[in-house]
Amino acid sequence: MGDLDPVRLIAVKRDGGQLTPAEIRQLIDAYTDGQVPDYQMSAFLMAVFLRGMDGAETFALAEAMLKSGTIVDLSDVPGVKVDKHSTGGVGDKLSLILAPLVASAGVPVPMISGRGLGHTGGTLDKLESIPGFRTSLTLGEYHEQLRELGVVMIGQTSEIAPADKKLYALRDVTSTVESVPLIAASIMSKKLAEGIDALVLDVKVGKGAFMPDARKARRLAETLVDIGEHFGTRSVALLTEMSDPLGYAVGNWCEMEEAIRCLQGETVPEVTELTLSLGSEMLVLGGVASDLATAREKLQSLLENGTAFDVFSRMVAAQGGDTKVVQNPELMGESAITTEVVASSSQDGFIASIDALAIGQAATRLGAGRMRVDDDVDPLAGITLCRKRGDRVQPGDCLARLHTRSSDLAEPFLISVRDAFATGDTAPAPRQVVIDRLVEGRWNSSVN
Ligand code: URA
Repeated sequence: MGDLDPVRLIAVKRDGGQLTPAEIRQLIDAYTDGQVPDYQMSAFLMAVFLRGMDGAETFALAEAMLKSGTIVDLSDVPGVKVDKHSTGGVGDKLSLILAPLVASAGVPVPMISGRGLGHTGGTLDKLESIPGFRTSLTLGEYHEQLRELGVVMIGQTSEIAPADKKLYALRDVTSTVESVPLIAASIMSKKLAEGIDALVLDVKVGKGAFMPDARKARRLAETLVDIGEHFGTRSVALLTEMSDPLGYAVGNWCEMEEAIRCLQGETVPEVTELTLSLGSEMLVLGGVASDLATAREKLQSLLENGTAFDVFSRMVAAQGGDTKVVQNPELMGESAITTEVVASSSQDGFIASIDALAIGQAATRLGAGRMRVDDDVDPLAGITLCRKRGDRVQPGDCLARLHTRSSDLAEPFLISVRDAFATGDTAPAPRQVVIDRLVEGRWNSSVN
């Protein structure tokens, strides 16, 4: 531990002072090696949570976490390697569509994703709902598949940012998750370790987002982009609306099925639009389209002519997944119990909004998500919406279907899911999913 004095560093942060990059690096290294105990790191995290970090401290924290593990070298894979990261939402199946779609346009996509925790779903759980699909490839297999196929989707290995793994678990139990510098350093340490050249960030704001407050979500987007640019990874962020669930499906297999339909060219409300917006940014950063409009057209045709779905099917086969269920989703069967939630006598009119947080929490408890890191998820559990914002509804109409292993699991959520649907006498304004775009340090509200 050398001359490291954790008590002094905690006191400096507690009193609103700044730490040097060397002090931050020493502290993170010593914690990762087990030389600084959890109780001191907990105090440090709380001091950062309450006092914040300036830009130089945040860069130093991200760098120390990044360098705690392997940084994959993908320089032998031709092309500009681009990934997308989302801060997490309800019904957010975008990665499942974007990775193969963008790869089918000629941009290599190496993607390391996470599992669902709390009310938001995780890409790994959705991928693993395909029988046999392996997300636990080694970094060697990850590298090889990217070179062969142009796309690979795996989970965080023990070599990637081990400091983050330890710190995140500690933050989870010390109420220190919702801090902009801690979130930004955590996300970017993992993303920068992937070996990417550019990154598109989907920063969600609204009731179903991790960061419901718009000002904080913007600050998070700015911090994420600043870290990316600081380390030479070109980064663009979209601020996107996450008050209502995205698409109709919230769960694992049901979201995979919706993603498959989207990959086969079907237009799914919000999902297709957001896929095209994020994907266009990836194509421009990847250097295969000169502008966003050209990129969007290209992506649209790759969805419609079957190329994106073909790349997806090849990725499923390469990672051991059952391609028969991907070709014929009905082979997967249904969950044991499906319970319909119907509109009450007062739910008469237009759907004004659907509370994404309530839907996400219910889907989690139905078995689609986990309350603790080591819980198992039920691939067939979840919620499919029968109505979306703007649709007309009358008492007795189906609002949603709950899919579970047993009817006991559905019972407690019949009311909360029903009440998640707010109605009004007039049709609400059309939903604008992309709120703003942050590129080269500037917000630009004239998004397409
Ligand atoms: N996702 C991460 O990877 N880290 C955080 O701190 C929050 C969300």
